[in-house]
Amino acid sequence: MSDIRTRLAHTSQLGPDLLGEVRALLDEAFDGEFSDEDFEHALGGMHALVYEGERLTAHGSVVQRRVVHTDRALRCGYVEAVAVRAGARRRGLGSAVMAGLEGVIGRAYVLGALSASDAGAALYTSRGWTVWGGRIGTLASPWPQALPEEEGSTYLWVPDGGVLPDPAQGLWFDWRNGDVL
Ligand SMILES: CC(C)(COP(=O)(O)OP(=O)(O)OC[C@H]1O[C@@H](n2cnc3c(N)ncnc32)[C@H](O)[C@@H]1OP(=O)(O)O)[C@@H](O)C(=O)NCCC(=O)NCCS
Repeated sequence: MSDIRTRLAHTSQLGPDLLGEVRALLDEAFDGEFSDEDFEHALGGMHALVYEGERLTAHGSVVQRRVVHTDRALRCGYVEAVAVRAGARRRGLGSAVMAGLEGVIGRAYVLGALSASDAGAALYTSRGWTVWGGRIGTLASPWPQALPEEEGSTYLWVPDGGVLPDPAQGLWFDWRNGDVL
């Protein structure tokens, strides 16, 4: 883990060249399965950019979403686009990304959430993220919509002293185009 550096920056600070570099890393890491909508979901919040030497090697971002739970619209930090270059995995870079994003969540949000790929689940559970055991839905127009297919792959995290939502009640995420979660 020598010469590893994590930079935290808002999307507005990255500029087109660096955003292009991030997109290229994501296209490579997700084997071409990372869509324009997936990329759009990763913008507008804070990015954790992990460099090995001078090379951008890992990325993740956290964006704000409102999540309705019981009678509260919680300020949620939603994690997107976590990826490490294929040749650099299992050396702690994914953890470095998550440590940076968890710091942001702890300082700015009441709750962290993400939708895990099969490849990502082990990383998140190793860091104390837990599978949400309750119902999931979205506040789509014109009616709210249940998302049972998302149950089992949505993970939550709260900073020390925080309280996880009550699984007896649902989590209703704001709507967006593409994958809602
Ligand atoms: C998922 C991903 C980001 C993990 O990055 P990484 O740099 O390999 O993760 P780390 O080295 O920090 O792993 C930290 C811990 O997470 C767990 N872990 C991570 N990847 C794992 C895997 N493939 N299998 C089992 N455990 C794993 C382990 O506990 C690991 O600690 P260890 O190596 O000491 O056993 C990386 O595999 C990746 O980019 N995959 C393709 C894109 C993707 O699916 N992203 C997730 C989207 S939700």
